[in-house]
Amino acid sequence: MINVDLKYMQSFVEEDNLKQLEEKIITAHKDLIARVGKGSDFLGWLDLPDTIGDSLDEINTVAQLLKKVDVLLVIGIGGSYLGAKAALEALNPYFNRKGPEIIFVGHHISSAYMLELKRYLENKTFAINVISKSGTTTEPAIAFRVFKEMLESKVGKAASKDLIVATTDENKGALRHLVNEEDYQSFVIPDNVGGRYSIFTAVGLLPIAVSGIDINAMIEGAKEAKETFSELSLDNPVYKYVAARNHLYNTGKKIEMFIHYDPKIQYLAEWWKQLFGESEGKDGKGLFVASAGFTTDLHSLGQYIQDGERHLFETVLNIKTPTEDFTIEKNEDDLDGLNYLDGYSVDEVNKQAMLGTLLAHNDGGVPNIVIEIEKMNEKQFGELIYFYELSCALSGYVLGVNPFDQPGVEAYKKNMFALLEKPGFEEETKAIKKRIK
Ligand code: PA5
Repeated sequence: MINVDLKYMQSFVEEDNLKQLEEKIITAHKDLIARVGKGSDFLGWLDLPDTIGDSLDEINTVAQLLKKVDVLLVIGIGGSYLGAKAALEALNPYFNRKGPEIIFVGHHISSAYMLELKRYLENKTFAINVISKSGTTTEPAIAFRVFKEMLESKVGKAASKDLIVATTDENKGALRHLVNEEDYQSFVIPDNVGGRYSIFTAVGLLPIAVSGIDINAMIEGAKEAKETFSELSLDNPVYKYVAARNHLYNTGKKIEMFIHYDPKIQYLAEWWKQLFGESEGKDGKGLFVASAGFTTDLHSLGQYIQDGERHLFETVLNIKTPTEDFTIEKNEDDLDGLNYLDGYSVDEVNKQAMLGTLLAHNDGGVPNIVIEIEKMNEKQFGELIYFYELSCALSGYVLGVNPFDQPGVEAYKKNMFALLEKPGFEEETKAIKKRIK
């Protein structure tokens, strides 16, 4: 169960401030449920915890087949890779992971990365899960061309077909065209689910299942979250989070930092940044979203957060129980001066670091929202994802933007295509060449 603790932002908020936002959030929530708000063509994610159930068997079956290789390449960018990456990092052990190694590619255009990966794969068996909702995104398209060719020359064209699974739109896009031509196995991304809200489709679930994570338990958690967070009141943890972050934004705190105390959470933070950044950052509005992993980043960003410009707040993810822990023991000579920690577990030290930081940052003028979960497992991961998705949608509506589009992402693509003289961009090519000469 998720709890949102606002104790560490108390001194930055008046009694009524959050109550005043409650009505707005209720209206946003009603619009969302009635599907009458902005971007309501993209609300398929709201019901995925219930509707994806029928597809889980098929996803698990295909995952079993893909487990037979040494390496699974997951090709995708943005919402087509971050959810899976977040789950893999949060729920797997740091070392000695079971199952095939899962390597992401196509989430940037680094030539060195692709060449090194090709060399790494030379003596290994591998399969490919290529993911692109539009089926036209350049980064994954380049990577797919490269690694599909490598696979074909390694195992032959016919055998490669059993080792390639595509996840894309049902009808549109170059990837769907390729799937039809080559007769690859494929999963469909529903039309009404946007990229960053697609973790509970085959986009996220297939690579997650290949890594041995229980996707059924994850969906169970999401289902419970859907039920729990349906309440129309400030008692709802989603409402607390939405009210707190919007109140802080309205009072000049323009940056929200996702803070965690476990390196396994780094990619959940990356996923969260994409979710909120792409959903809210438009029309000249929106919190700038950043993240930091403490205590590591207390030794780099800590100074700024404590003492720099006062335009930020933190949202801390507190995982109350670690997956594993051990006690620090007394040592005869105490040369390192650590005997005062005798009897503390390492996680207890981490938690005291968290408490000390919350208080210090409060003293430095930084409000903190604390999101608490009991422990990180499949079920609570599913719950947390749904919590953030719903929070993001409601927050976007409260802000007055469409949280389900991303028109700003097109600007760099248009310039890149013009510079690369892509057919169809002739006018843009002429214009951009004038600008840079
Ligand atoms: O949230 C989104 O829609 C985007 O971030 C996309 O996920 C990203 O641009 C990748 O797009 P596609 O899956 O079409 O390749």
